[in-house]
Amino acid sequence: MVGIMMSSINRHARSLNATLVSNKRIGQYHQLLLNIGELVTYCRPGNFVAIAVGGENSGLILQRAFAISRTSPRSNYGGDPGGTIELIIAPQGAGSRWLCSQAEGIELDIIAPLGSAFGIPTEPVQALLIGGGYGSAPLFGLAEVLKSRGCQVDMILGASSAAKIYAPTEGKRSVNSLKIYTEDGSAGILGKVTDPLAGLINEVDVIYSCGPMGMLSAISSIAGISGVVHQCAVEESMACGIGVCMTCVLPVESTDGTVSMLRSCIEGPVMDGSSVRWDLVGKVSN
Ligand SMILES: Cc1cc2nc3c(=O)[nH]c(=O)nc-3n(C[C@H](O)[C@H](O)[C@H](O)COP(=O)(O)OP(=O)(O)OC[C@H]3O[C@@H](n4cnc5c(N)ncnc54)[C@H](O)[C@@H]3O)c2cc1C
Ligand code: FES
Repeated sequence: MVGIMMSSINRHARSLNATLVSNKRIGQYHQLLLNIGELVTYCRPGNFVAIAVGGENSGLILQRAFAISRTSPRSNYGGDPGGTIELIIAPQGAGSRWLCSQAEGIELDIIAPLGSAFGIPTEPVQALLIGGGYGSAPLFGLAEVLKSRGCQVDMILGASSAAKIYAPTEGKRSVNSLKIYTEDGSAGILGKVTDPLAGLINEVDVIYSCGPMGMLSAISSIAGISGVVHQCAVEESMACGIGVCMTCVLPVESTDGTVSMLRSCIEGPVMDGSSVRWDLVGKVSN
C-alpha cells in the first residue's frame, strides 16, 4: 500500500507578471533574466518557477517549470526597481521554444519561488556538485552560496555531447574545480559523470545533484554505499507546478519503511536521494 503525503506550497510563492529583462543565447541554451522585484530575496538555490507559455490565446495550457539558476538584487532595466532571477532554458518543445523566442521587455506570467531548496551546511564542508545537461543551472547559484560559507566546491558536469554542457565562464569562478564528461567525448573526458564518483566519494561530505532521473538514481546508489548525504533536485514531469494535479509524484521511503507518493513540486524538487525509491519510480501509482 502506497500512501500520499500532503504538505503546502512554498510559503513565499506569488503569482506575478515579471518583465523579461534580457534574453541571450548561450550555445544551445538561452539565458533569461526576469525582474521579480523584492521576491528575489526569498529565492533559494533549488527553487523553481512556473511560467505560462504561448501568450494569451495559446492552446499551451500547462505552465512550464524552470530551475532558478542565480539571483541578483538589481534589475538594471529601464529604471525597474528590484531583483532578477536567471533561468537557463533548452529550447526543446513548444513551450520552451516560445519562451526562448520572446523579446526583452515583455511581461511573463509566472509563479515564484516554488519548491524546496538545497540544504546549506552550517560548517564549511567538502561539497561535490554534479549536473547533467541544463541540470547544471541551479548548481552555479548553489556553488556561490557554498563558497561564501567557506566550503570546498568541486563540480562535475556531464551531457551526451559538448553542445549540451552548460558551464558559463562566470560560473566557473564559483567552484574550486570543474570536470566535464561527455558521452561522445566531444568535450572533456569521454564517459559519464558517475564514472569518477566511486574514487572521489571518500573525500566528499555532501553531494548535490540535478539532472535526468537515471543520473540521480545512479549517484544515489554510489552515495548510499558510502553513506554520503546526497541532495538531488529531481526533474519529474510537472503539469501544474503548484501541488494540484499529482502528475509529479515520486515514491519516497520514510524511516519506518513506509513508502509515500510525494509531490516533487511541493516536497521537492530537492529531495534526499537515499529516501527516493528509485526502483519504484514510474512503477507504482497512488
Ligand atoms: C523542477 C523542474 C525544473 C526544470 N528546470 C529546467 C531548466 O532549468 N531548464 C530547462 O530547459 N528545462 C527545465 N525543466 C523542464 C521544463 O519544465 C520543460 O519540461 C521543458 O522545457 C520542455 O517543455 P516544452 O514546453 O518545451 O515541451 P512540450 O513538449 O511542449 O511540453 C512538455 C510539458 O508538458 C509536461 N508534460 C509532459 N508530459 C506530461 C504528463 N504526462 N503529465 C503532465 N505533464 C506532462 C512537461 O512537464 C512539460 O512541462 C525543468 C522541469 C522541472 C520539473
Ligand atoms: S505538478 Fe501538479 S501536483 Fe506537482
